[in-house]
Amino acid sequence: MKIDAANLIITIDGPAGAGKSTVARGVAKALGFSYLDTGAIYRVATLAAQRAGIDLPNERSPKRVFDAVDQCKLKFVYPDEDSPVHVFLDGDDVTAEIRTEAVTQHIRYVADLREVRAISSELQRSIAAKGRFVCEGRDQGTVVFPDAFLKIYLWASPEVRAGRRTQELRERGEKVDTREMLKKIKDRDRLDMSREVGGLKKAHDAVELDTSNMTAQQAIDAIVKLARERLK
Ligand code: DC
Repeated sequence: MKIDAANLIITIDGPAGAGKSTVARGVAKALGFSYLDTGAIYRVATLAAQRAGIDLPNERSPKRVFDAVDQCKLKFVYPDEDSPVHVFLDGDDVTAEIRTEAVTQHIRYVADLREVRAISSELQRSIAAKGRFVCEGRDQGTVVFPDAFLKIYLWASPEVRAGRRTQELRERGEKVDTREMLKKIKDRDRLDMSREVGGLKKAHDAVELDTSNMTAQQAIDAIVKLARERLK
């Protein structure tokens, strides 16, 4: 296969727990593209606001939140093709901290703000302008990269996603209640889909892939096949 266009974008959007990160990384590796995890940007922006002393659920000034996000120094390092992004906030490695519940539960107060989404989208476009990227998130095909040559809407039923997440946490030795996990997944879907700007929805020209009965490798292979067909 020959890919020689300088700036090619594949977008992968979908709900939490659909396997976007694993699949996006696998697709990027197979095609020789770079990978952009846009959820990590909203995660670290949330931590930046928290570290600036903002009580996010009670903060009434969007400007205070925006300023905290705008003023922080971010660095994203992709160590190798198989590892998640390493994230630095003002020089501190916050890779693990941005995945904690304390951050996850407050993301909406940051990700809902139009002004934050505008600078985040601009950052995403400037990163992706440098080459060929698989960009993963909620609004990549709809808002950030409407001209992407391939858009995927990666889906799986809430029950399947809750089951996968429960198993993953149990394997790490954590105690998890499956019903509680299903509720969390459904709550996040509601928040992600109801966001006024950049809310999760399938782009009209996206290919929907239901991974409920697929392994990650099968999903990767299906997307790589589609990409190769379009690049012919
Ligand atoms: O993909 P993730 O779970 O790491 O994303 C964390 C949150 O960030 C998600 O609940 C919604 C938000 N997000 C967003 O609003 N837009 C994106 N492009 C990616 C993530």
